Amino acid sequence: MRNERLNEFVKQVSERTDLLQLVQGYVPLKRKGNRYWGCCPFHQENTPSFSVVPEKGFFYCFGCHAGGNAFKFISLIENVSYFEAIKMQAEKLGIELPRREQTPAEIAHEQERADLRKVNEMARDFFYNCLTMTQLGTPGMAYFKARGISDKTIEEFHLGFAPASWDKLSMAFQKRGVKKELLLASGLSAERKMEGSLYDRFRGRVMIPIADERDRIVGFGGRVIDDATPKYLNSPETILFNKRKLLFGLNRSHRAIQQAGYAIVVEGYMDAISVFGAGIENVVATLGTAFTVEHCKKLLRYASEICFCYDSDEAGQSATIRALSIVCVTGARVRVIVVPDGKDPDEYIRKHGAGAFRALVSKALPLVEYRLRYVLAHTDYDTLDGKVQALHQMLPVLTGIRETAMRNEYEKKIARSLMLDEGIVHDELRRYTHGNLNKTVSLPKVPRAQDNAVQQAGRTILQMAVRDPSILDHVQAVVPLSAITDTTQQEIFHFLQNHKGKELFLDNMDDTLSEAATSELSRAMVEEFDEQNHESAYTDALQVLCKSYLQMLYIEHSRKAEEYLRVGNPAYREELSEVKRIKHEIDTLQL
Ligand code: CTP
Ligand code: MN
Repeated sequence: MRNERLNEFVKQVSERTDLLQLVQGYVPLKRKGNRYWGCCPFHQENTPSFSVVPEKGFFYCFGCHAGGNAFKFISLIENVSYFEAIKMQAEKLGIELPRREQTPAEIAHEQERADLRKVNEMARDFFYNCLTMTQLGTPGMAYFKARGISDKTIEEFHLGFAPASWDKLSMAFQKRGVKKELLLASGLSAERKMEGSLYDRFRGRVMIPIADERDRIVGFGGRVIDDATPKYLNSPETILFNKRKLLFGLNRSHRAIQQAGYAIVVEGYMDAISVFGAGIENVVATLGTAFTVEHCKKLLRYASEICFCYDSDEAGQSATIRALSIVCVTGARVRVIVVPDGKDPDEYIRKHGAGAFRALVSKALPLVEYRLRYVLAHTDYDTLDGKVQALHQMLPVLTGIRETAMRNEYEKKIARSLMLDEGIVHDELRRYTHGNLNKTVSLPKVPRAQDNAVQQAGRTILQMAVRDPSILDHVQAVVPLSAITDTTQQEIFHFLQNHKGKELFLDNMDDTLSEAATSELSRAMVEEFDEQNHESAYTDALQVLCKSYLQMLYIEHSRKAEEYLRVGNPAYREELSEVKRIKHEIDTLQL
Protein backbone atom coordinates (compact mmCIF):
# COMPACT_ATOMS: atom_id res chain seq x y z
CA MET A 1 0.00 0.00 0.00
CA ARG A 2 2.67 2.40 1.06
CA ASN A 3 4.74 1.64 -1.99
CA GLU A 4 1.84 2.18 -4.33
CA ARG A 5 1.16 5.59 -2.92
CA LEU A 6 4.81 6.43 -3.15
CA ASN A 7 5.01 5.27 -6.74
CA GLU A 8 1.94 7.27 -7.59
CA PHE A 9 3.51 10.31 -6.01
CA VAL A 10 6.81 9.88 -7.87
CA LYS A 11 4.95 9.36 -11.12
CA GLN A 12 2.96 12.51 -10.61
CA VAL A 13 6.03 14.62 -9.86
CA SER A 14 7.82 13.04 -12.78
CA GLU A 15 5.01 13.77 -15.22
CA ARG A 16 4.71 17.37 -14.21
CA THR A 17 8.46 18.01 -14.36
CA ASP A 18 9.73 19.81 -17.43
CA LEU A 19 13.31 18.61 -17.74
CA LEU A 20 14.30 21.20 -20.29
CA GLN A 21 13.03 24.07 -18.21
CA LEU A 22 14.61 22.59 -15.11
CA VAL A 23 18.06 22.25 -16.69
CA GLN A 24 17.85 25.65 -18.31
CA GLY A 25 17.49 27.11 -14.85
CA TYR A 26 21.14 26.15 -14.35
CA VAL A 27 22.70 25.79 -17.80
CA PRO A 28 22.16 27.80 -20.99
CA LEU A 29 21.24 25.35 -23.77
CA LYS A 30 21.09 25.48 -27.55
CA ARG A 31 18.91 23.28 -29.72
CA LYS A 32 20.23 20.95 -32.42
CA GLY A 33 17.76 18.42 -33.76
CA ASN A 34 15.98 16.71 -30.90
CA ARG A 35 18.82 17.44 -28.48
CA TYR A 36 19.76 20.54 -26.54
CA TRP A 37 23.42 21.25 -25.89
CA GLY A 38 25.36 23.22 -23.31
CA CYS A 39 28.52 23.25 -21.21
CA CYS A 40 28.37 20.54 -18.58
CA PRO A 41 27.79 21.83 -15.05
CA PHE A 42 29.44 18.71 -13.62
CA HIS A 43 32.88 19.11 -15.09
CA GLN A 44 35.05 21.89 -16.46
CA GLU A 45 34.70 22.43 -20.20
CA ASN A 46 34.57 25.09 -22.87
CA THR A 47 32.88 23.25 -25.72
CA PRO A 48 29.46 21.81 -24.98
CA SER A 49 29.26 18.06 -24.52
CA PHE A 50 26.32 18.14 -22.17
CA SER A 51 23.00 17.28 -23.78
CA VAL A 52 19.33 17.07 -22.92
CA VAL A 53 16.73 15.07 -24.81
CA PRO A 54 13.45 16.50 -23.51
CA GLU A 55 11.14 14.02 -25.20
CA LYS A 56 12.98 11.08 -23.65
CA GLY A 57 13.37 12.87 -20.36
CA PHE A 58 17.07 12.44 -19.88
CA PHE A 59 20.33 14.36 -19.89
CA TYR A 60 23.76 13.00 -20.66
CA CYS A 61 27.27 14.41 -20.77
CA PHE A 62 29.57 12.86 -23.35
CA GLY A 63 32.54 14.30 -21.49
CA CYS A 64 32.10 13.09 -17.93
CA HIS A 65 29.28 10.57 -18.50
CA ALA A 66 27.00 12.15 -15.94
CA GLY A 67 23.49 11.33 -16.95
CA GLY A 68 19.99 10.37 -15.92
CA ASN A 69 16.52 11.77 -15.57
CA ALA A 70 15.34 15.04 -14.06
CA PHE A 71 15.66 13.80 -10.49
CA LYS A 72 19.18 12.61 -11.09
CA PHE A 73 19.99 16.06 -12.41
CA ILE A 74 18.61 17.74 -9.30
CA SER A 75 20.38 15.31 -7.01
CA LEU A 76 23.71 16.00 -8.73
CA ILE A 77 23.43 19.74 -9.00
CA GLU A 78 21.87 20.31 -5.60
CA ASN A 79 23.95 17.67 -3.91
CA VAL A 80 21.05 15.78 -2.38
CA SER A 81 20.03 12.13 -2.48
CA TYR A 82 17.82 10.90 -5.27
CA PHE A 83 14.77 10.76 -3.07
CA GLU A 84 15.41 14.18 -1.63
CA ALA A 85 15.58 15.47 -5.19
CA ILE A 86 12.09 14.13 -5.84
CA LYS A 87 10.86 15.80 -2.67
CA MET A 88 12.45 19.12 -3.61
CA GLN A 89 10.87 19.02 -7.03
CA ALA A 90 7.48 18.09 -5.52
CA GLU A 91 7.72 21.05 -3.21
CA LYS A 92 8.52 23.33 -6.13
CA LEU A 93 5.51 22.03 -8.05
CA GLY A 94 3.27 22.21 -5.01
CA ILE A 95 2.60 18.48 -4.95
CA GLU A 96 1.97 17.16 -1.48
CA LEU A 97 4.04 14.35 -0.09
CA PRO A 98 2.23 11.14 0.79
CA ARG A 99 2.32 10.98 4.54
CA ARG A 100 3.49 7.87 6.24
CA GLU A 101 2.86 6.96 9.83
CA GLN A 102 6.16 7.16 11.67
CA THR A 103 6.85 5.02 14.69
CA PRO A 104 7.24 6.93 17.96
CA ALA A 105 10.91 5.93 18.04
CA GLU A 106 11.46 7.39 14.56
CA ILE A 107 9.75 10.60 15.53
CA ALA A 108 11.85 10.89 18.68
CA HIS A 109 15.05 10.19 16.77
CA GLU A 110 14.29 12.73 14.08
CA GLN A 111 13.39 15.26 16.75
CA GLU A 112 16.70 14.67 18.50
CA ARG A 113 18.62 15.30 15.32
CA ALA A 114 16.63 18.41 14.55
CA ASP A 115 17.20 19.72 18.08
CA LEU A 116 20.92 19.10 17.86
CA ARG A 117 21.18 20.91 14.54
CA LYS A 118 19.22 23.79 15.91
CA VAL A 119 21.37 24.24 18.99
CA ASN A 120 24.54 23.94 16.90
CA GLU A 121 23.24 26.61 14.59
CA MET A 122 22.49 28.84 17.56
CA ALA A 123 26.00 28.26 18.83
CA ARG A 124 27.52 29.12 15.47
CA ASP A 125 25.69 32.45 15.52
CA PHE A 126 26.63 32.99 19.14
CA PHE A 127 30.35 32.49 18.44
CA TYR A 128 30.19 34.54 15.24
CA ASN A 129 28.46 37.46 16.92
CA CYS A 130 30.85 37.27 19.81
CA LEU A 131 33.79 37.55 17.39
CA THR A 132 32.45 40.22 15.11
CA MET A 133 30.25 42.36 17.34
CA THR A 134 31.41 42.25 20.93
CA GLN A 135 34.36 43.31 23.04
CA LEU A 136 34.73 39.73 24.22
CA GLY A 137 35.74 38.78 20.69
CA THR A 138 38.71 41.15 20.48
CA PRO A 139 41.40 38.51 21.21
CA GLY A 140 39.88 36.22 18.60
CA MET A 141 39.82 38.97 16.00
CA ALA A 142 43.43 39.85 16.78
CA TYR A 143 44.39 36.19 16.31
CA PHE A 144 42.67 35.90 12.93
CA LYS A 145 44.19 39.16 11.72
CA ALA A 146 47.65 38.00 12.74
CA ARG A 147 47.07 34.85 10.67
CA GLY A 148 46.02 36.90 7.70
CA ILE A 149 42.40 35.73 7.73
CA SER A 150 40.26 38.32 5.97
CA ASP A 151 36.83 39.57 7.02
CA LYS A 152 35.48 37.94 3.89
CA THR A 153 36.83 34.56 4.97
CA ILE A 154 35.45 35.04 8.47
CA GLU A 155 32.06 35.68 6.99
CA GLU A 156 32.29 32.90 4.40
CA PHE A 157 33.20 30.26 6.99
CA HIS A 158 31.19 31.84 9.79
CA LEU A 159 34.25 31.75 12.01
CA GLY A 160 33.72 32.76 15.61
CA PHE A 161 35.12 33.12 19.07
CA ALA A 162 34.16 31.36 22.29
CA PRO A 163 34.59 33.93 25.06
CA ALA A 164 37.14 33.26 27.74
CA SER A 165 34.57 32.75 30.45
CA TRP A 166 33.26 29.65 32.19
CA ASP A 167 29.63 29.71 31.23
CA LYS A 168 28.62 32.55 28.92
CA LEU A 169 27.08 30.21 26.36
CA SER A 170 25.56 27.76 28.82
CA MET A 171 23.86 30.56 30.75
CA ALA A 172 22.68 32.46 27.69
CA PHE A 173 21.26 29.36 26.03
CA GLN A 174 19.48 28.12 29.16
CA LYS A 175 17.95 31.55 29.51
CA ARG A 176 16.68 31.20 25.96
CA GLY A 177 14.99 27.97 26.93
CA VAL A 178 17.49 25.43 25.62
CA LYS A 179 17.21 22.26 27.71
CA LYS A 180 20.14 21.16 29.81
CA GLU A 181 20.08 17.68 28.24
CA LEU A 182 20.42 19.17 24.78
CA LEU A 183 23.37 21.33 25.77
CA LEU A 184 25.07 18.26 27.19
CA ALA A 185 24.19 16.03 24.24
CA SER A 186 25.60 18.53 21.76
CA GLY A 187 28.84 18.74 23.72
CA LEU A 188 28.59 22.52 23.90
CA SER A 189 28.32 22.28 27.68
CA ALA A 190 29.59 19.95 30.38
CA GLU A 191 28.28 19.40 33.88
CA ARG A 192 30.00 20.37 37.10
CA LYS A 193 30.24 17.22 39.20
CA MET A 194 29.26 18.71 42.55
CA GLU A 195 26.63 21.34 41.79
CA GLY A 196 25.30 19.83 38.58
CA SER A 197 25.44 23.25 36.91
CA LEU A 198 26.71 23.65 33.35
CA TYR A 199 29.92 25.15 32.02
CA ASP A 200 31.11 25.79 28.46
CA ARG A 201 33.22 23.23 26.64
CA PHE A 202 34.80 25.86 24.40
CA ARG A 203 36.45 28.79 26.19
CA GLY A 204 38.87 31.37 24.85
CA ARG A 205 39.14 29.63 21.48
CA VAL A 206 38.56 30.73 17.91
CA MET A 207 35.72 28.62 16.60
CA ILE A 208 35.35 26.83 13.30
CA PRO A 209 31.84 25.55 12.60
CA ILE A 210 31.72 22.17 10.86
CA ALA A 211 28.82 21.44 8.53
CA ASP A 212 27.64 18.32 6.76
CA GLU A 213 27.36 18.37 2.95
CA ARG A 214 23.93 19.85 3.22
CA ASP A 215 25.23 22.80 5.11
CA ARG A 216 23.80 21.87 8.48
CA ILE A 217 26.04 22.57 11.44
CA VAL A 218 27.01 19.32 13.14
CA GLY A 219 29.93 20.33 15.36
CA PHE A 220 32.86 22.64 16.01
CA GLY A 221 36.60 22.77 16.07
CA GLY A 222 38.10 25.30 18.48
CA ARG A 223 41.69 26.49 18.40
CA VAL A 224 43.60 28.14 21.24
CA ILE A 225 44.95 31.59 20.49
CA ASP A 226 48.18 31.01 22.38
CA ASP A 227 50.41 28.00 23.02
CA ALA A 228 48.06 26.27 25.42
CA THR A 229 47.06 22.65 24.90
CA PRO A 230 45.25 20.97 23.40
CA LYS A 231 45.78 23.13 20.32
CA TYR A 232 42.46 22.02 18.87
CA LEU A 233 39.39 20.92 20.75
CA ASN A 234 36.54 19.37 18.77
CA SER A 235 32.93 18.61 19.53
CA PRO A 236 32.53 15.11 20.94
CA GLU A 237 31.08 12.44 18.68
CA THR A 238 27.30 12.78 18.54
CA ILE A 239 24.64 11.25 16.31
CA LEU A 240 25.46 14.08 13.89
CA PHE A 241 29.20 14.39 14.35
CA ASN A 242 31.15 11.43 13.02
CA LYS A 243 34.74 12.23 12.19
CA ARG A 244 35.21 9.10 10.13
CA LYS A 245 32.58 10.33 7.71
CA LEU A 246 32.69 14.11 7.80
CA LEU A 247 34.96 16.25 5.71
CA PHE A 248 35.38 19.86 6.66
CA GLY A 249 34.47 22.23 3.83
CA LEU A 250 32.57 19.79 1.63
CA ASN A 251 29.41 21.88 1.99
CA ARG A 252 31.21 24.70 0.18
CA SER A 253 33.43 22.75 -2.15
CA HIS A 254 31.36 19.98 -3.71
CA ARG A 255 30.45 21.99 -6.80
CA ALA A 256 34.05 23.01 -7.35
CA ILE A 257 35.15 19.39 -6.88
CA GLN A 258 32.71 18.29 -9.55
CA GLN A 259 33.89 20.99 -11.91
CA ALA A 260 37.59 20.43 -11.38
CA GLY A 261 37.24 16.66 -11.55
CA TYR A 262 39.28 16.16 -8.38
CA ALA A 263 39.23 16.95 -4.70
CA ILE A 264 42.18 18.30 -2.74
CA VAL A 265 42.39 16.79 0.74
CA VAL A 266 44.35 18.64 3.44
CA GLU A 267 44.95 17.80 7.09
CA GLY A 268 43.92 20.94 8.92
CA TYR A 269 40.97 23.29 9.14
CA MET A 270 43.26 26.24 8.64
CA ASP A 271 44.80 24.63 5.59
CA ALA A 272 41.38 24.18 4.00
CA ILE A 273 40.40 27.74 4.86
CA SER A 274 43.63 29.12 3.39
CA VAL A 275 43.47 27.07 0.20
CA PHE A 276 39.84 28.05 -0.28
CA GLY A 277 40.73 31.68 0.39
CA ALA A 278 43.45 31.42 -2.26
CA GLY A 279 40.71 30.77 -4.81
CA ILE A 280 41.15 27.00 -5.02
CA GLU A 281 37.74 25.92 -3.87
CA ASN A 282 37.80 22.17 -4.48
CA VAL A 283 39.31 21.49 -1.06
CA VAL A 284 38.28 19.57 2.05
CA ALA A 285 40.00 18.70 5.32
CA THR A 286 39.81 15.65 7.54
CA LEU A 287 38.98 16.39 11.16
CA GLY A 288 42.19 15.38 12.85
CA THR A 289 41.70 11.69 12.01
CA ALA A 290 43.11 9.44 9.34
CA PHE A 291 41.55 9.38 5.89
CA THR A 292 38.94 6.61 5.78
CA VAL A 293 37.18 4.57 3.12
CA GLU A 294 34.02 6.48 4.03
CA HIS A 295 35.76 9.77 3.26
CA CYS A 296 36.91 8.33 0.00
CA LYS A 297 33.46 7.13 -1.03
CA LYS A 298 32.00 10.49 -0.21
CA LEU A 299 34.49 12.30 -2.44
CA LEU A 300 34.13 9.81 -5.27
CA ARG A 301 30.51 10.85 -5.57
CA TYR A 302 31.77 14.14 -6.95
CA ALA A 303 34.97 13.29 -8.80
CA SER A 304 37.11 10.32 -9.71
CA GLU A 305 40.40 11.76 -8.56
CA ILE A 306 41.70 12.61 -5.11
CA CYS A 307 44.71 14.80 -4.57
CA PHE A 308 46.35 14.72 -1.15
CA CYS A 309 48.16 17.74 0.17
CA TYR A 310 49.36 16.89 3.65
CA ASP A 311 52.13 18.49 5.68
CA SER A 312 55.48 17.67 4.14
CA ASP A 313 57.06 16.75 7.48
CA GLU A 314 57.73 13.12 8.39
CA ALA A 315 54.33 12.65 10.06
CA GLY A 316 52.55 14.15 7.07
CA GLN A 317 54.43 11.89 4.67
CA SER A 318 53.52 8.74 6.48
CA ALA A 319 49.92 9.94 6.79
CA THR A 320 49.97 10.42 3.01
CA ILE A 321 51.26 6.90 2.47
CA ARG A 322 48.50 5.52 4.70
CA ALA A 323 45.84 7.57 2.92
CA LEU A 324 47.12 6.38 -0.46
CA SER A 325 46.75 2.76 0.56
CA ILE A 326 43.14 3.44 1.57
CA VAL A 327 42.32 5.06 -1.75
CA CYS A 328 44.24 2.53 -3.84
CA VAL A 329 41.71 -0.22 -3.17
CA THR A 330 38.81 1.90 -4.37
CA GLY A 331 40.27 2.34 -7.83
CA ALA A 332 40.21 6.13 -7.61
CA ARG A 333 42.92 8.08 -9.35
CA VAL A 334 45.30 9.60 -6.86
CA ARG A 335 47.92 12.30 -6.89
CA VAL A 336 49.97 14.06 -4.25
CA ILE A 337 50.74 17.74 -4.00
CA VAL A 338 54.14 18.15 -2.42
CA VAL A 339 54.66 21.30 -0.38
CA PRO A 340 58.37 22.14 -0.17
CA ASP A 341 60.44 22.64 2.99
CA GLY A 342 58.33 21.01 5.65
CA LYS A 343 55.50 23.47 5.42
CA ASP A 344 51.78 22.88 5.55
CA PRO A 345 49.60 24.36 2.77
CA ASP A 346 48.46 27.25 4.94
CA GLU A 347 52.00 28.30 5.87
CA TYR A 348 53.08 27.94 2.26
CA ILE A 349 50.28 30.14 0.95
CA ARG A 350 50.93 32.76 3.59
CA LYS A 351 54.61 32.86 2.72
CA HIS A 352 54.56 32.47 -1.06
CA GLY A 353 51.05 33.46 -2.10
CA ALA A 354 48.13 31.83 -3.88
CA GLY A 355 49.83 31.73 -7.28
CA ALA A 356 52.77 29.74 -5.98
CA PHE A 357 50.42 27.24 -4.39
CA ARG A 358 48.47 26.88 -7.61
CA ALA A 359 51.72 26.03 -9.33
CA LEU A 360 52.28 23.25 -6.79
CA VAL A 361 48.81 21.90 -7.53
CA SER A 362 49.55 21.74 -11.23
CA LYS A 363 52.73 19.78 -10.51
CA ALA A 364 51.01 17.18 -8.34
CA LEU A 365 52.71 13.79 -8.57
CA PRO A 366 50.95 10.62 -9.70
CA LEU A 367 50.70 7.98 -6.99
CA VAL A 368 53.61 5.83 -8.25
CA GLU A 369 55.92 8.82 -8.57
CA TYR A 370 55.20 9.87 -5.01
CA ARG A 371 55.61 6.38 -3.67
CA LEU A 372 58.91 6.00 -5.50
CA ARG A 373 60.26 9.22 -4.07
CA TYR A 374 59.16 8.18 -0.62
CA VAL A 375 60.73 4.76 -0.89
CA LEU A 376 63.98 6.17 -2.26
CA ALA A 377 64.15 8.63 0.61
CA HIS A 378 63.38 6.02 3.24
CA THR A 379 65.48 3.00 2.31
CA ASP A 380 69.18 2.51 1.96
CA TYR A 381 69.30 1.14 -1.56
CA ASP A 382 73.08 1.01 -1.80
CA THR A 383 72.98 -2.57 -0.59
CA LEU A 384 71.34 -5.40 -2.48
CA ASP A 385 69.15 -6.01 0.54
CA GLY A 386 67.99 -2.41 0.47
CA LYS A 387 67.28 -2.59 -3.27
CA VAL A 388 65.10 -5.66 -2.84
CA GLN A 389 63.27 -4.03 0.05
CA ALA A 390 62.68 -0.87 -1.93
CA LEU A 391 61.47 -2.84 -4.92
CA HIS A 392 59.01 -4.79 -2.81
CA GLN A 393 57.54 -1.60 -1.46
CA MET A 394 56.92 -0.47 -5.02
CA LEU A 395 55.19 -3.63 -6.21
CA PRO A 396 51.71 -2.95 -4.79
CA VAL A 397 51.41 0.38 -6.61
CA LEU A 398 52.93 -1.05 -9.76
CA THR A 399 50.30 -3.79 -9.96
CA GLY A 400 47.68 -1.10 -9.61
CA ILE A 401 48.64 0.43 -12.97
CA ARG A 402 46.29 -1.05 -15.52
CA GLU A 403 47.82 0.33 -18.71
CA THR A 404 50.63 -1.91 -19.82
CA ALA A 405 52.64 0.80 -21.56
CA MET A 406 52.59 2.99 -18.51
CA ARG A 407 53.46 0.11 -16.22
CA ASN A 408 56.41 -0.78 -18.41
CA GLU A 409 57.66 2.80 -18.23
CA TYR A 410 57.55 2.71 -14.46
CA GLU A 411 59.22 -0.67 -14.32
CA LYS A 412 62.08 0.87 -16.28
CA LYS A 413 62.17 3.93 -14.12
CA ILE A 414 62.25 1.90 -10.92
CA ALA A 415 64.98 -0.31 -12.32
CA ARG A 416 67.03 2.78 -13.17
CA SER A 417 66.48 4.43 -9.82
CA LEU A 418 67.46 1.34 -7.87
CA MET A 419 70.16 0.34 -10.36
CA LEU A 420 68.56 -3.04 -10.90
CA ASP A 421 68.12 -5.08 -14.03
CA GLU A 422 64.78 -4.40 -15.75
CA GLY A 423 64.18 -8.13 -16.10
CA ILE A 424 64.40 -8.56 -12.34
CA VAL A 425 61.83 -5.84 -11.72
CA HIS A 426 59.54 -7.41 -14.28
CA ASP A 427 59.88 -10.92 -12.86
CA GLU A 428 59.37 -9.76 -9.30
CA LEU A 429 56.25 -7.94 -10.34
CA ARG A 430 54.87 -11.04 -12.00
CA ARG A 431 55.67 -13.17 -9.00
CA TYR A 432 54.04 -10.63 -6.74
CA THR A 433 50.89 -10.38 -8.85
CA HIS A 434 50.45 -14.13 -8.97
CA GLY A 435 51.23 -14.71 -5.31
CA ASN A 436 48.84 -11.97 -4.45
CA LEU A 437 46.04 -13.41 -6.51
CA ASN A 438 46.43 -16.77 -4.81
CA LYS A 439 46.54 -15.16 -1.43
CA THR A 440 43.53 -12.92 -1.70
CA VAL A 441 41.25 -14.95 -3.92
CA SER A 442 40.09 -18.18 -2.39
CA LEU A 443 37.77 -19.23 -5.20
CA PRO A 444 39.17 -20.30 -8.54
CA LYS A 445 39.22 -17.29 -10.71
CA VAL A 446 39.84 -16.63 -14.35
CA PRO A 447 42.84 -14.49 -15.17
CA ARG A 448 42.66 -10.74 -15.11
CA ALA A 449 42.53 -9.92 -18.82
CA GLN A 450 39.49 -12.13 -19.09
CA ASP A 451 37.97 -10.55 -16.03
CA ASN A 452 37.75 -7.31 -17.92
CA ALA A 453 36.15 -9.01 -20.88
CA VAL A 454 33.63 -10.60 -18.54
CA GLN A 455 32.89 -7.26 -17.01
CA GLN A 456 32.42 -5.69 -20.42
CA ALA A 457 30.13 -8.54 -21.47
CA GLY A 458 28.14 -8.08 -18.27
CA ARG A 459 27.76 -4.41 -19.04
CA THR A 460 26.60 -5.04 -22.58
CA ILE A 461 23.93 -7.45 -21.44
CA LEU A 462 22.97 -5.09 -18.67
CA GLN A 463 22.38 -2.28 -21.15
CA MET A 464 20.18 -4.53 -23.20
CA ALA A 465 18.29 -5.81 -20.19
CA VAL A 466 17.55 -2.25 -19.15
CA ARG A 467 15.80 -1.72 -22.46
CA ASP A 468 14.21 -5.13 -22.54
CA PRO A 469 14.10 -6.95 -19.20
CA SER A 470 12.60 -10.04 -20.84
CA ILE A 471 16.01 -11.04 -22.20
CA LEU A 472 17.02 -11.91 -18.65
CA ASP A 473 15.10 -15.17 -18.94
CA HIS A 474 17.02 -16.08 -22.03
CA VAL A 475 20.34 -15.15 -20.47
CA GLN A 476 19.61 -17.34 -17.50
CA ALA A 477 18.58 -20.22 -19.67
CA VAL A 478 22.03 -20.16 -21.24
CA VAL A 479 24.28 -19.34 -18.29
CA PRO A 480 23.69 -18.86 -14.56
CA LEU A 481 23.83 -15.26 -13.36
CA SER A 482 26.72 -16.25 -11.10
CA ALA A 483 28.87 -16.10 -14.25
CA ILE A 484 28.73 -12.37 -13.78
CA THR A 485 31.59 -11.75 -11.43
CA ASP A 486 31.21 -8.04 -10.87
CA THR A 487 29.21 -7.57 -7.67
CA THR A 488 27.74 -4.26 -8.77
CA GLN A 489 26.48 -5.81 -11.98
CA GLN A 490 25.11 -8.75 -10.04
CA GLU A 491 23.19 -6.38 -7.85
CA ILE A 492 21.70 -4.63 -10.85
CA PHE A 493 20.66 -7.89 -12.50
CA HIS A 494 18.84 -8.94 -9.35
CA PHE A 495 17.23 -5.54 -9.20
CA LEU A 496 16.07 -5.75 -12.82
CA GLN A 497 14.70 -9.19 -12.20
CA ASN A 498 12.69 -8.02 -9.21
CA HIS A 499 11.35 -5.09 -11.17
CA LYS A 500 10.46 -6.94 -14.31
CA GLY A 501 7.27 -5.58 -15.80
CA LYS A 502 7.27 -2.52 -13.59
CA GLU A 503 7.81 0.68 -15.38
CA LEU A 504 9.11 3.00 -12.77
CA PHE A 505 12.36 1.49 -11.71
CA LEU A 506 14.54 4.56 -12.14
CA ASP A 507 12.52 6.26 -9.48
CA ASN A 508 12.96 3.80 -6.69
CA MET A 509 16.36 2.47 -7.45
CA ASP A 510 18.12 4.74 -5.00
CA ASP A 511 16.27 3.17 -2.11
CA THR A 512 17.26 -0.39 -2.89
CA LEU A 513 20.55 -0.21 -4.77
CA SER A 514 24.02 0.68 -3.62
CA GLU A 515 25.44 3.92 -4.90
CA ALA A 516 27.75 2.19 -7.35
CA ALA A 517 24.86 0.23 -8.79
CA THR A 518 22.63 3.27 -9.03
CA SER A 519 25.19 5.18 -11.01
CA GLU A 520 26.04 2.24 -13.26
CA LEU A 521 22.38 1.61 -13.92
CA SER A 522 21.51 5.20 -14.68
CA ARG A 523 24.45 5.33 -17.05
CA ALA A 524 23.22 2.21 -18.80
CA MET A 525 19.82 3.81 -19.14
CA VAL A 526 20.99 6.91 -20.91
CA GLU A 527 23.98 5.73 -22.87
CA GLU A 528 23.74 5.80 -26.63
CA PHE A 529 22.84 2.42 -27.90
CA ASP A 530 23.84 0.80 -31.12
CA GLU A 531 20.64 -0.90 -32.27
CA GLN A 532 22.17 -2.20 -35.50
CA ASN A 533 24.74 -4.46 -33.95
CA HIS A 534 22.37 -5.50 -31.25
CA GLU A 535 22.08 -9.18 -32.17
CA SER A 536 25.74 -9.95 -32.59
CA ALA A 537 26.75 -7.88 -29.56
CA TYR A 538 24.31 -9.90 -27.51
CA THR A 539 25.55 -13.31 -28.61
CA ASP A 540 29.18 -12.21 -28.31
CA ALA A 541 28.62 -11.03 -24.76
CA LEU A 542 26.76 -14.16 -23.85
CA GLN A 543 29.55 -16.24 -25.32
CA VAL A 544 32.14 -14.46 -23.18
CA LEU A 545 30.07 -15.08 -20.05
CA CYS A 546 29.58 -18.73 -20.94
CA LYS A 547 33.22 -19.25 -21.59
CA SER A 548 34.31 -17.64 -18.37
CA TYR A 549 31.73 -19.67 -16.47
CA LEU A 550 32.97 -22.89 -18.04
CA GLN A 551 36.55 -21.97 -17.26
CA MET A 552 35.59 -21.42 -13.67
CA LEU A 553 34.03 -24.90 -13.59
CA TYR A 554 37.08 -26.30 -15.33
CA ILE A 555 39.45 -24.97 -12.68
CA GLU A 556 37.16 -26.09 -9.89
CA HIS A 557 36.93 -29.65 -11.13
CA SER A 558 40.63 -29.84 -11.99
CA ARG A 559 41.45 -28.87 -8.44
CA LYS A 560 39.08 -31.44 -7.04
CA ALA A 561 40.52 -34.13 -9.30
CA GLU A 562 44.03 -33.23 -8.18
CA GLU A 563 43.05 -33.28 -4.53
CA TYR A 564 41.31 -36.69 -4.84
CA LEU A 565 44.29 -38.06 -6.66
CA ARG A 566 46.63 -36.83 -3.93
CA VAL A 567 44.66 -38.53 -1.15
CA GLY A 568 43.97 -41.62 -3.22
CA ASN A 569 40.22 -41.14 -3.54
CA PRO A 570 38.94 -43.04 -6.60
CA ALA A 571 36.34 -40.33 -7.18
CA TYR A 572 39.09 -38.58 -9.09
CA ARG A 573 38.05 -40.50 -12.20
CA GLU A 574 34.63 -38.88 -12.31
CA GLU A 575 36.17 -35.49 -11.74
CA LEU A 576 38.61 -36.07 -14.55
CA SER A 577 35.92 -37.06 -17.00
CA GLU A 578 33.96 -33.98 -15.93
CA VAL A 579 37.05 -31.90 -16.61
CA LYS A 580 37.31 -33.43 -20.05
CA ARG A 581 33.67 -32.83 -20.78
CA ILE A 582 33.98 -29.16 -19.78
CA LYS A 583 37.10 -28.81 -21.85
CA HIS A 584 35.26 -30.13 -24.85
CA GLU A 585 32.39 -27.79 -24.21
CA ILE A 586 34.75 -24.82 -24.05
CA ASP A 587 36.44 -25.82 -27.30
CA THR A 588 33.19 -26.22 -29.19
CA LEU A 589 31.32 -23.38 -27.59
CA GLN A 590 29.01 -21.81 -30.10
CA LEU A 591 25.83 -19.95 -29.39
N1 CTP B 1 43.88 18.33 15.50
C1 CTP B 1 43.03 17.99 16.53
N2 CTP B 1 43.45 18.06 17.83
C2 CTP B 1 44.71 18.48 18.11
C3 CTP B 1 45.59 18.81 17.08
C4 CTP B 1 45.14 18.73 15.77
O1 CTP B 1 41.88 17.64 16.29
N3 CTP B 1 45.09 18.56 19.37
C5 CTP B 1 43.39 18.24 14.13
C6 CTP B 1 42.72 19.50 13.67
O2 CTP B 1 41.64 19.15 12.84
C7 CTP B 1 43.80 20.20 12.89
C8 CTP B 1 44.51 19.04 12.25
O3 CTP B 1 44.44 18.01 13.22
O4 CTP B 1 43.25 21.09 11.93
C9 CTP B 1 45.94 19.32 11.87
O5 CTP B 1 46.68 19.59 13.01
P1 CTP B 1 48.07 20.35 12.99
O6 CTP B 1 48.82 20.02 11.75
O7 CTP B 1 48.71 20.16 14.31
O8 CTP B 1 47.63 21.83 12.99
P2 CTP B 1 47.50 22.88 11.83
O9 CTP B 1 46.43 22.49 10.90
O10 CTP B 1 48.82 23.24 11.26
O11 CTP B 1 46.93 24.07 12.70
P3 CTP B 1 47.48 25.51 12.86
O12 CTP B 1 47.94 25.94 11.53
O13 CTP B 1 46.28 26.23 13.37
O14 CTP B 1 48.56 25.47 13.87
MN1 MN C 1 49.16 24.96 10.17
